[in-house]
Amino acid sequence: MAADAPPTADGGLNRGRVLVSLVMPTRILVVGGGGREHALARKLALEPGVNEVIVAPGSAGIGTEPRVRCVAVEPLDPDAVVAVARAASAELVVVGPEAPLSVGVADALAAAGIPVFGPTRAAAALETSKAFCHDVAEAAGVRMARARAFAPGDEPEAAAWIHELERAGSGAVLKQDGLAAGKGVIVTDSAARALELAPSFLVGREPGRPALVIEERLEGPEASVIAICDGTRAVALPAARDHKRLCDEDRGPNTGGMGAYSPLPDLDDQAVERVLRTVHLPILAELARRGTPFRGFLYAGLMLTADGPVLLECNVRLGDPEAQVILPRVAGAIGPLLLAAARGGLPASMPTLLPVLPGAAVGIVLAARGYPGDPRRGDPIEGIDDALAQGALVFHAGTVARRRPGGGFGTNGGRVLAVTALGPDIAAARAAAERAADAIAWDGMQRRRDIARDLPRAIPEPVG
Ligand code: AMP
Ligand code: GLY
Repeated sequence: MAADAPPTADGGLNRGRVLVSLVMPTRILVVGGGGREHALARKLALEPGVNEVIVAPGSAGIGTEPRVRCVAVEPLDPDAVVAVARAASAELVVVGPEAPLSVGVADALAAAGIPVFGPTRAAAALETSKAFCHDVAEAAGVRMARARAFAPGDEPEAAAWIHELERAGSGAVLKQDGLAAGKGVIVTDSAARALELAPSFLVGREPGRPALVIEERLEGPEASVIAICDGTRAVALPAARDHKRLCDEDRGPNTGGMGAYSPLPDLDDQAVERVLRTVHLPILAELARRGTPFRGFLYAGLMLTADGPVLLECNVRLGDPEAQVILPRVAGAIGPLLLAAARGGLPASMPTLLPVLPGAAVGIVLAARGYPGDPRRGDPIEGIDDALAQGALVFHAGTVARRRPGGGFGTNGGRVLAVTALGPDIAAARAAAERAADAIAWDGMQRRRDIARDLPRAIPEPVG
């Protein structure tokens, strides 16, 4: 079956080129069970020709989507995921979170001959090892914050590097090397604080292996540019911005993300294309040169500094909650693109920017009491149906179906729901998302009220 992306209505650069001769997968397995996987499953299940989307393990909330079925499986067990893909006759597997990728779920699926969209364990090191990401970026000529990696025993060298950054007028950011779900980063306010904290990152870690990365502190708004990659080519999804701190005005601890919006007033289509050209494509080329080509969603976390965008981090997946505002904006079918990329061949005639609907999307995360520490579970959630009745999208990130009379859902994780609304512009989408989020409540619910409120003005992009 051929699937054509619709022509663009947004006047974007080359969004209007039509994609032809792509095969539409009819049965798709999505691995994962959070809000991002809900957004992915919903998007794929709505695409023409898709008969069923199986989500492993998914959740009761995700399973409420039409044509979506959830299957209990341990997503970190590669053999179990292969077995589910076979049993479901999946023509394509899309892996949502980084953890299954980092234990080789994509490798196992590929070895079993099942098309998988998601990088191998080796390529996923781009996210799991910040030191590896810096190494690849440097070899690829991609600008990142200046950084050095330290192993246990390197405490004097770490202190010397903090002093060197201070002399250069820069603060220090301490990052744990290895998966930390966005919580292993401390942006310090002074060299003294950095010197005090650095040794704690090295305690109890394996000798000889980098455990701490210390970066120069950059300033500016952040942006997430995520691309669908086939090993050498890439097509960009619309840019989005996450709000990482727990509380309004960017106060409180870092979280996995408390809300997001798209598009960005300060990163237009031309700038997104430039990011694709100067960040994604060189990284893909370097990974291919090393014999570990990257197939999957490549997420560039950028800081838009006064000197232009600088890469802060790479993730090897869609962002969460960015996916919940990006995917509802995509105009055409992505299933055929993901399948083509999984097979290693996005069409050469492909546009560099994915066609999107006009307008904007804003998503507000509703989190449990205690998040990002130890979240409380089991609180009954009120108002999901009211939010849906307003036309909002309600993505389940950490909920469980309640068995007691009255049914409905209860809290079952840190980030519980993401409420997304679309609108003709960011202000309208924000107003609709706020109204819908206002309809939902439970005891101890935490949320921000300033998602997409204080928008940065467009900043001129340096040429190059
Ligand atoms: P990461 O897990 O590397 O994305 O870092 C989490 C958050 O820490 C980022 O979203 C930024 O808000 C902040 N951060 C990370 N690296 C830097 C840096 N070099 N300069 C300033 N802030 C940073
Ligand atoms: N929202 C940030 C991330 O997914 O890493």
